Amino acid sequence: MARVILIGLIALVALLALLYFRPRRDTDSEQVALLARELALRPGMVAAEVGAGDGKFAFLLARKFDGALSMYVTELDPKLVASMQGGRPPNVTVLEGAAGNARLPAACCDVVYLRRVFHHFTEPGSMNASLFRAIRPGGTIAVIDRPAGLSFNLISFQLRGPRNRWGHGISIASVSDELRAAGFQVARVISWPDRNYCVIGKKPKT
Ligand SMILES: C[S@@+](CC[C@H](N)C(=O)[O-])C[C@H]1O[C@@H](n2cnc3c(N)ncnc32)[C@H](O)[C@@H]1O
Repeated sequence: MARVILIGLIALVALLALLYFRPRRDTDSEQVALLARELALRPGMVAAEVGAGDGKFAFLLARKFDGALSMYVTELDPKLVASMQGGRPPNVTVLEGAAGNARLPAACCDVVYLRRVFHHFTEPGSMNASLFRAIRPGGTIAVIDRPAGLSFNLISFQLRGPRNRWGHGISIASVSDELRAAGFQVARVISWPDRNYCVIGKKPKT
């Protein structure tokens, strides 16, 4: 009897693990469409992705608008900056960021979004202040991230930097508190594919 219960339990754990780690169903193109819809992006706007990695996601967004959306992309890693310079669409400006400064021009953007980057910030106070300066009054910030520890990825487990980022993630409450401390109003939080969330904040108009 005990054996049957044990086998049943193992089967249940295996099934839950399979469900949890099932392949991603949302492609980057679908997430780009979701972002454009949720942030009400329109031709003529200026947007930025901070911590754009290899630029794949931002370039998809820029191409979706066929040149009618101007974009900045920033990245901390100089190699990724160089590779983005080589492959960027014409309406995208590539900038090298710093740990505590996005290095975007003041009031350059209607929208700034960050996908799986916010939990990497080692100097969140000055970084968030620089994001606030970069967004026009009435503009939008969107932070796509995930709760700490959710990946169970021990290799990339992050035990450095600010404590609210330990565990290679950050809670919605921490993101919201930091955005408010920087001067943003938190407008809403939506769920995002791949067990992520998206906190959407607004810079007050005055
Ligand atoms: C997990 S990757 C996400 C890349 C991209 N946003 C995406 O969704 O595919 C995180 C990236 O953020 C960059 N990063 C971390 N801190 C940064 C900072 N303060 N400013 C700019 N980039 C940063 C890292 O170098 C890395 O390329």
